[in-house]
Amino acid sequence: TSASLILDPAFTVAPVRRRTFGTFVEHMGRCVYTGIHEPGHPTADEDGFRKDVLELTRELGVSLVRYPGGNFVSGYRWEDGVGPREDRPRRLELAWHSIETNQFGLDEFMRWCAKAEVEPMMAINLGTRGVQEALDLQEYTNHPGGTALSDLRGQHGAASPYGIKVWCLGNEMDGPWQIGHKTASEYGRLAAETARAMRMVEPGLELVACGSSSSAMPTFGSWEREVLRECYDLVDHISCHAYYGDDKGDPASFLASAVDMDRFIDSVVASADHVGAELKSSKRIDISFDEWNVWYGDRSRRTDGPADAWEVAPRRIEDEYNLTDAVVVGNLLISLLRHSDRVAVACLAQLANVIAPIRTEPDGPAWRQPTFHPFAITSRLAAGQVLRVETTSPLVATDKFGEVPAVDAVATYDEGKLAVFGVNRSLNTPIELTVDLTRTGVTGVQEALTMSGEDRLAVNSATHPDRVVPHPNDTVKLRDGKLTLTLPAISWTALSLS
Ligand code: AHR
Repeated sequence: TSASLILDPAFTVAPVRRRTFGTFVEHMGRCVYTGIHEPGHPTADEDGFRKDVLELTRELGVSLVRYPGGNFVSGYRWEDGVGPREDRPRRLELAWHSIETNQFGLDEFMRWCAKAEVEPMMAINLGTRGVQEALDLQEYTNHPGGTALSDLRGQHGAASPYGIKVWCLGNEMDGPWQIGHKTASEYGRLAAETARAMRMVEPGLELVACGSSSSAMPTFGSWEREVLRECYDLVDHISCHAYYGDDKGDPASFLASAVDMDRFIDSVVASADHVGAELKSSKRIDISFDEWNVWYGDRSRRTDGPADAWEVAPRRIEDEYNLTDAVVVGNLLISLLRHSDRVAVACLAQLANVIAPIRTEPDGPAWRQPTFHPFAITSRLAAGQVLRVETTSPLVATDKFGEVPAVDAVATYDEGKLAVFGVNRSLNTPIELTVDLTRTGVTGVQEALTMSGEDRLAVNSATHPDRVVPHPNDTVKLRDGKLTLTLPAISWTALSLS
């Protein structure tokens, strides 16, 4: 069985956007506490940040981190998390039914971002709060000084403003589970009012309006339309969130999850452009895909105690990812890159422990889940322009999406350097892939890495952290502009050529 691709640097989609490689840190479960922050840990630095996790975050190639939620943000008072630690209040945290100690807050997050070398993306509470609190937060983070809140930041040790550029106007406000859940027109008005006021201070901010929390929401489509009718001229992006899992034991459909992501993006682009057409506007709204990942089972599952106990940093949704999940994550990144003309930001949710590529044990090791690898490699190799890729592939049958191409791929091209990312979504059939490179001028293969294996459910653990890792693909050959290689069944591959 064979498939082929033709690559031509003349046919481009858009530049690779570094913000495609964002992730997400929420005050949820052990993402913050004993994830990125654990003062007593042997690797902890002077701020209590785990250096092992900081190193893995840099290796993951993360460009931007969304914070502090998620559902958490809709009940959060940012002031609780600044100032002397001993004065910070303990609060009931309703979204994830926990106790929030506020020992990690805004200033710690900004210091952590500087050390991790990532850009912050700040979410504001439009659940229990509104315009004034958003302005207060903006004054604290972004105003240079000489006002009550900017001077307070100085007193807390940060003389220079943080200059946060990208802001989420709330989180998943379409979801009935959200504290302060609203109708589309109520939320659209609030987003517009908040955006208008924030822009009076800084016109150049990048603002994200909440789109749908999934394409399966009953209000999907009409939510985007109603919200954007209220705030089209005042925001830059509309958000998408999507989580995929094989809960029904249907791996063929699960492996084709990127087909759903492609359709989701195309539908939101169509909805946004429809509003733009109604408004006779030449402005284009882009997408912030600020939560995406594989996620199994019960959406708030707790594994270390009763779900209804009020405790600090309980273990919640610490999903253990396998090889198949890594192939799906690699494929979802292919979908995001392919849409670089409209996807401006994307965040793998989340970063540590909570449905995360990085796992930790308190007072113990940190390790890479299988899903870590496709993200890290794609972030490292994708550069320059995303190319339009013409693929000819055999089809695989799926219950959810009908027949879909077994091979899905994307490529990037940067001054003579080519990167190709591809998956074989077939459950059992290896595929011989031929890539026509004659128009690219590349003559050598620098790297050919494949994730595949006998056991599609294999996982990594604290004691076996490198069971599922990429391996050199030694079937690759390049002669006279023609590259051939074997893509094993259920596999993800990255090629670096020049
Ligand atoms: O990432 C976990 C949760 O998923 C987020 O808090 C919420 O926005 C989404 O439902």
